[in-house]
Amino acid sequence: MKLEFPKDFLWGSATASYQVEGAVNQDGKGMTSWDKYYHMPNRKYNGDVSTDHYNRYKEDIKLLSEINQKTYRFSVSWARIFPNGSGEINEKGLQFYDNLVDELLANNIEPNLTLYHWDMPLALMYKGGWLNREVVDNFVEYSKVLFTHFRGRVKLWSTINEPASEVMGGYIQGAHPPLRKNYTEALQVAHHLNLAHAKAVKLFNEMNMEGEIGIVLNPIPIHPASNKEEDIIAAKRAYDFYSDWYIAPILAGKYPEIMLEECQKKYNSPKIEPGDMEILKGAKVDYLGVNYYMRRVVANNPDSTGNIDDCFKNVRVKDGNYTEWGWEIYPEGLYELLSRIQKDYGKIDFYITENGMGFYDKVESNGQVVDDDRLDYIRQHIIQIHRCLEDGINIKGYYVWSAIDLLSWTNGFEKRYGLIRVDFDTLERSIKKSGRWYADFIANNYIEY
Ligand code: NOJ
Repeated sequence: MKLEFPKDFLWGSATASYQVEGAVNQDGKGMTSWDKYYHMPNRKYNGDVSTDHYNRYKEDIKLLSEINQKTYRFSVSWARIFPNGSGEINEKGLQFYDNLVDELLANNIEPNLTLYHWDMPLALMYKGGWLNREVVDNFVEYSKVLFTHFRGRVKLWSTINEPASEVMGGYIQGAHPPLRKNYTEALQVAHHLNLAHAKAVKLFNEMNMEGEIGIVLNPIPIHPASNKEEDIIAAKRAYDFYSDWYIAPILAGKYPEIMLEECQKKYNSPKIEPGDMEILKGAKVDYLGVNYYMRRVVANNPDSTGNIDDCFKNVRVKDGNYTEWGWEIYPEGLYELLSRIQKDYGKIDFYITENGMGFYDKVESNGQVVDDDRLDYIRQHIIQIHRCLEDGINIKGYYVWSAIDLLSWTNGFEKRYGLIRVDFDTLERSIKKSGRWYADFIANNYIEY
């Protein structure tokens, strides 16, 4: 069977500023939360150089063009534009993204620009980061500069990447900056991220910007470990907490009601000021960006401490297919997830803004990476995209994570995702088997199934 895709479907791949750029002190860039994090004692690696994409973007775009990418998703480092988070603009930082965007356009690659992919200017982190409501306005000021500057050249905009990860990693698990473990703060941060997103969307519309704006979420489909009622309740709560807590404010301008009541009672958070929900309701997105990697299977946790995300625990499925990092490969989950979102909130356009497989790549003696597992992972998910399209779910584009090998936030350079390999000793690039396969697929625009 031949699975064909719409002619204008955007196939591409993605990266994020801190993970690829390096050049952390170049051309007037300010320090970010991650620069600080990686220079704490005992860190084994950092993004000081990474792939040095900042200085090698031309070579990288040439390779993206060689593998037929129609679109490329990247993020702008806020601290390159505003070294102090706000105030004076650093023209050299802006120049870098000018060059990048122009080079993409010259190669017929549609830029998809993410305004915030976790690298917060340190100056803003010092004043409380997303916990401080003023930072919402700083974000709007920063968005305005980019909207003004790239008007007409960038047509695809994403406000914030994975607010759920920023909240979980930074404020609940204490694994990402600012290394906090505090539910009251976490819930407030989530609300401020939503407000920042909504105010940027409002501005985009007021400025009559050409193109589309959305947000990038990472909702997870969640299955109960059994048919027992307690597991079913656990799965529902987990979905509300990890997924719907972020989808509902974006698509319906509200928080899941029961959970909101529970959070406000237990943690006295989030504090919602008069008018906030109207702001969220008024910010209609043009699309929802979905980062999809895996599903979760959860059971009731009898040893719960009573915390909101503690009444369920993850369960490993017998015969499940897991990556080396314990992420279950479950392509059908993409279809299940988008069907559920569409059922809950009505028809909307989607982009799959990240999907890919991270593992230890093996390099053959001839220098090649024969990454059949990655290739198969991507292929299986593309088949699910076709299933969605057949079923009336409007996906307009798909981005492999990642375009090129890069720094994984807490796994360094060992966990590889790229279609393009980077030798981190020499910074030489080479296209992997998955990259060649993806290039052929894009040229054909169908899959033999
Ligand atoms: C989601 C994040 O957006 C990205 O930065 C990260 O590297 C990938 N997932 C893989 O974990």
